[in-house]
Amino acid sequence: MSTAPSAPEANSRICLAVRAAQVPPSATAALDARAKALIAQGVDVINLTSGEPAFPTVEPATRAALDAVATGFIRYTPAAGIPELRSAAAEFINRHGTAYEAGQVVITAGAKQALHHAFTALVEPGDEILVPAPHWVSYPHLAALAGGTLVPVQPARDSGLKVGADQLRAAVTDRTRVLLLNNPANPSGVVYDRTELAALVQVAIDHDLAVISDEICDHWVFGDAEHVSVAALGPEAAERTLTVGGVSKTFAMTGWRIGWVAAPAQVAQAITAIQSHTASAPSSISQRAALGALTADLTTELEHRRRELDDRRLTTVKALAGIPGMEVDGTPDGAFFLLADVTGTYGRTLAGRTITSAADFAELLLAEANVAVVPGADFAAPNHVRVSYTVPPDRLREALTRLAAFADALAA
Ligand SMILES: Cc1ncc(COP(=O)(O)O)c(C=O)c1O
Repeated sequence: MSTAPSAPEANSRICLAVRAAQVPPSATAALDARAKALIAQGVDVINLTSGEPAFPTVEPATRAALDAVATGFIRYTPAAGIPELRSAAAEFINRHGTAYEAGQVVITAGAKQALHHAFTALVEPGDEILVPAPHWVSYPHLAALAGGTLVPVQPARDSGLKVGADQLRAAVTDRTRVLLLNNPANPSGVVYDRTELAALVQVAIDHDLAVISDEICDHWVFGDAEHVSVAALGPEAAERTLTVGGVSKTFAMTGWRIGWVAAPAQVAQAITAIQSHTASAPSSISQRAALGALTADLTTELEHRRRELDDRRLTTVKALAGIPGMEVDGTPDGAFFLLADVTGTYGRTLAGRTITSAADFAELLLAEANVAVVPGADFAAPNHVRVSYTVPPDRLREALTRLAAFADALAA
């Protein structure tokens, strides 16, 4: 890999640093933007690329934000977040059996910034970060920005898109420093159970790796599946784990930008120092909004939303099972996405174009059926597309009908 600065563009005197020049725009965001541009032109596109549940922000959060503005709660807060929110977040995280104290929780601008700070705090140039594949699109770039390299570990064939401890162990080198886990998983929606997770974490214990556990979708777990928090697996797991989460997905607060990282105290202090020099603190108003969400009794509301999303999940899985050339991979028991293998459509043709990749499939589907899905290459799932089933039920049913008609129209 070259370390020379990039050449300036013709219309600029500015050379980007290699680290910036090498970060491509997110494929998910690009497709989402294309779908939105078509919608703006009046095209009836159904957008199944979204990374957020299509519910409104929970009402107590909005009320708390309005109150924060009205009462002038508009100044810098402590770098790690307001104490009441750190405390409420610790309690919320601990519902999964962990034992975090408020002082171990740092409030950040979304889980994404928590991940960024975690990588900055742990990764030395040249370090390797192991992650089960398929994995979320931002991980390789977050790792690279910290000077590290993400090493995706592919699941075995017919493993239901789950990576086993043996595969993980085989990928450990003397440069491996971090095991990154994401459960429930984006993009596949698979949920690792307690035994599977414990086996993966044992690899980290045996090789003295830190674990970053991204649990941002912990609320969205369906059927008999259960969310297991890595730091609840025992003291040896807890002492090496950074738990990342936030309010974005659970409370439909993606735009408010509040997440957190809970970690052993000395790591939390280091992350607080990093945040103090890069963001000062997250928005005071959004912190109050998050506090409003975490301290209200939303059990009934959240359970209702979970059931609604579960219905959409079941509808999608059932419909895709009947669509030739698309096969749901793994068991999508969590989050709000699934991966469909589309290799069955390769070689098929529509409107003079032949599908040879998942990217072709997604392009043709958008052009011919006005349905947007994300091709899986950036998720390390090259023959798959990610289908996000969060849209309202009538739009979801319409999208699935269009998908079926599209598949039927593909000529051999
Ligand atoms: C796996 C995963 N981690 C982290 C994030 C970031 O969450 P936030 O919006 O709180 O930054 C996302 C958002 O899509 C995600 O899918």
